[in-house]
Amino acid sequence: MTALNNRRFLLAKRPVGAVTRDDFTFEQVPVEEPADGQVLVKNLYLSLDPAMRGWMNEGKSYIPPVALGEVMRALGVGEVIASKHPDFAVGDYVNGALGVQDYFVGAPKGFYTIDPRLAPLPRYLSALGMTGMTAYFALLDVGAPKAGETVVISGAAGAVGSIAGQIAKIKGCRVVGIAGGQDKCRYLVDELGFDGVIDYKAENVLEGLKRECPKGVDIYFDNVGGDILDAVLSRLNFKARVVICGAISQYNNKQAVKGPANYLSLLVNRARMEGFVVMDHAPQFAAAGQEIAGWLATGRLKSREDVVEGLETFPETLLKLFSGENFGKLVLKP
Ligand SMILES: NC(=O)c1ccc[n+]([C@@H]2O[C@H](COP(=O)([O-])OP(=O)(O)OC[C@H]3O[C@@H](n4cnc5c(N)ncnc54)[C@H](OP(=O)(O)O)[C@@H]3O)[C@@H](O)[C@H]2O)c1
Repeated sequence: MTALNNRRFLLAKRPVGAVTRDDFTFEQVPVEEPADGQVLVKNLYLSLDPAMRGWMNEGKSYIPPVALGEVMRALGVGEVIASKHPDFAVGDYVNGALGVQDYFVGAPKGFYTIDPRLAPLPRYLSALGMTGMTAYFALLDVGAPKAGETVVISGAAGAVGSIAGQIAKIKGCRVVGIAGGQDKCRYLVDELGFDGVIDYKAENVLEGLKRECPKGVDIYFDNVGGDILDAVLSRLNFKARVVICGAISQYNNKQAVKGPANYLSLLVNRARMEGFVVMDHAPQFAAAGQEIAGWLATGRLKSREDVVEGLETFPETLLKLFSGENFGKLVLKP
């Protein structure tokens, strides 16, 4: 094999607030040959996730933090170009934790093969990947929707939120999305069939909830936390379910996370609020993937990817998630 060079981002320091380029070392090193039990993968698309910001922090979480000096963790899809692992052959396309770099060399722990003939590769990072699994299990297992119920989703035009909302529609619910800006709100209603929208950048969320949810809220699928969580808590119905999928409004906080002031609404309404981590559902991913693929094939579910080119843009591209500049699943093409 001719000598290959690997551009990669290493975590250089623990960011304070929003990430900056200075939090990383961007370097180029020769690609090593895979050892026994390892594979060499050419990374084709990398998933940029709000969770990456949490992985950079020290402390206990649902997954160990990225160590200083380590390649920044990222899920991705790529092509196996050398293999000394019995389960993977040259030419296989794989999904796994490839890292923010051009090439992955190592043991393919947790990797699985995907078929590029069945869907465009970036879709294996959105509806057919961790994003779709998150929407599916957080809504169906924790939210437990019933036909006719009102479901409110924040971050609704984002990767997870847009899929969760469409699945709630498939289940016969009234679905109200909270998103930032006219374009995203119009997309939710016109393209994805949401029943109502609240543009949190242009209107008061509580007023919007009164207008769009006249019968109250049965399920709140929360991706953003903060003030929006508080507003929705004040509109809960009896036995409502609040799914804590994420809290992106809090990830760059320099102060402590802002907790919900209206939590006693859970007591009054005998409601519950439950945290969710997608990896807990790994044994059921294959079955869920088949159901999602079926909905995609029949047009009942739409998936939108926002692909940005250039590995070197990683720190600035990641910030799009926090400014809302991404429209669909944010994917980096090295
Ligand atoms: N628990 C799990 O296992 C799991 C797995 C995957 C993802 N998640 C969580 O799911 C959520 C969505 O992730 P995603 O990958 O689908 O990202 P995404 O929704 O595609 O992108 C993030 C969106 O969040 C919105 N946002 C950013 N800052 C905000 C703020 N201060 N207030 C309100 N909205 C804000 C922006 O949309 P607007 O333009 O509408 O503001 C932005 O486009 C995140 O909280 C993530 O951590 C959880």
